[in-house]
Amino acid sequence: MMVHTASLGAILCLASVCAAANFPILLNITSPLTLAVQPLCGALNSTNFTEINTGINLSATRTIVAFGDSWTSNGANGTVPLPPIMWPPSPSAGSRLNSNRRATNGFIWVEDLANTLSAKLLNYAWGGAIIDNFAWNTTSPANKTGVPRTDFVAETSLFLQQGRFLDALIPSQTLFTVAFGINDEGQFEIGGGDWVRATNTYLDKLGELQAHGAKNILIHGMYRSHSNPNALQNEVFSYLRQSKEINGTNFAFVNLERLFTAIQNNPSSFGYSGNPTCLVSSSTSVGGCSSPDTSVFWIPGHPSSNTHRLISEYSIAVVNDCLVG
Ligand SMILES: *[C@@H]1O[C@H](CO)[C@@H](O)[C@H](O)[C@H]1NC(C)=O
Ligand SMILES: *[C@@H]1O[C@H](CO)[C@@H](O)[C@H](O)[C@H]1NC(C)=O
Ligand SMILES: *[C@@H]1O[C@H](CO)[C@@H](O)[C@H](O)[C@H]1NC(C)=O
Ligand SMILES: *[C@@H]1O[C@H](CO)[C@@H](O)[C@H](O)[C@H]1NC(C)=O
Ligand SMILES: *[C@@H]1O[C@H](CO)[C@@H](O)[C@H](O)[C@H]1NC(C)=O
Ligand SMILES: *[C@@H]1O[C@H](CO)[C@@H](O)[C@H](O)[C@H]1NC(C)=O
Ligand SMILES: *[C@@H]1O[C@H](CO)[C@@H](O)[C@H](O)[C@H]1NC(C)=O
Ligand SMILES: *[C@@H]1O[C@H](CO)[C@@H](O)[C@H](O)[C@H]1NC(C)=O
Repeated sequence: MMVHTASLGAILCLASVCAAANFPILLNITSPLTLAVQPLCGALNSTNFTEINTGINLSATRTIVAFGDSWTSNGANGTVPLPPIMWPPSPSAGSRLNSNRRATNGFIWVEDLANTLSAKLLNYAWGGAIIDNFAWNTTSPANKTGVPRTDFVAETSLFLQQGRFLDALIPSQTLFTVAFGINDEGQFEIGGGDWVRATNTYLDKLGELQAHGAKNILIHGMYRSHSNPNALQNEVFSYLRQSKEINGTNFAFVNLERLFTAIQNNPSSFGYSGNPTCLVSSSTSVGGCSSPDTSVFWIPGHPSSNTHRLISEYSIAVVNDCLVG
């Protein structure tokens, strides 16, 4: 069993709020779950996206740069993350006083990956993020009713402004992870929009990252199948196949739908029991289940921290098992 220990001094005293000081924080990273599914490796010439690794070497990875939404965000937004401390009734591990939190009850998958590899993590993901605000009527700055969100455009822009000051970003030692689509599907279903624009922006941003040295790119396919995100993922796969050929870019494609379908079909084989989703809402832990360690989701639609561990393990399995020459 591994237990990480950290001592936290006097935390923070505001005028009326003074947190208890000088207590040890024990972060129990023991998980009762096991990864009970193997990747389904495909071929580089596949017309549709398929699980593959064209040359990413995790042993060489010293830095991870992450882009995405609440499934990937640790609340850092390009800075140093706060530790995953729970402050009930807030269900989101991290800060007590601002939104620098995780949509889960512990580490998120890309932190687990970084911890496993002892790599530095630069995380630009943010909750609710989409690919391109201008793609959807509900988020378009061109639409007077639109409410823009963080998008892949903004995340890339922030990384390009400050990432090089935070790390040497040695191409062969840096892994870029990208996971978008679920919120795009959500916004599209609400108010319509333009998948061609979203797709082009996704590929443009990959190109911009490549132009700035990205040689190793890991993509997450969405955990549920929807026709538009599937088509997007086919385009991303096909673009990265060309990248491999033209630019020598190594890429891995991890299909989370395969993992989550396997979990849904046979949760007990992974060690899950009880409620598939622990909490009743995203805003409070009150009324939640008593078995978060064996729940698939913690907040509705958001994996529990132990499921995040499986996502990390599954991503590693794809990279290790699906390597093509
Ligand atoms: C850590 O978690 C495991 C699995 O849930 C549990 O068996 C163990 O007792 C926990 N250890 C501590 C120190 O809380
Ligand atoms: C991919 O290549 C294999 C041989 O390596 C071939 O058998 C297969 O038909 C090809 N598939 C496509 C879609 O081109
Ligand atoms: C992967 O990286 C490690 C560490 O740099 C290196 O020792 C190993 O040879 C690399 N493997 C391949 C297949 O390049
Ligand atoms: C992330 O940080 C950048 C730069 O400080 C800031 O402009 C942006 O608003 C932040 N995003 C969020 C969602 O806080
Ligand atoms: C603005 O968005 C709404 C849906 O949120 C849509 O019905 C309307 O057509 C959009 N207007 C324009 C000018 O795109
Ligand atoms: C949404 O945006 C598209 C263009 O991006 C437009 O054609 C459409 O009319 C808009 N409104 C709805 C409700 O889809
Ligand atoms: C390939 O992707 C297209 C578009 O998403 C889809 O219609 C088709 O069923 C997929 N084919 C296979 C074999 O999955
Ligand atoms: C190749 O890399 C350049 C940047 O150096 C990028 O703009 C372009 O999109 C890449 N093309 C492919 C097919 O990967």
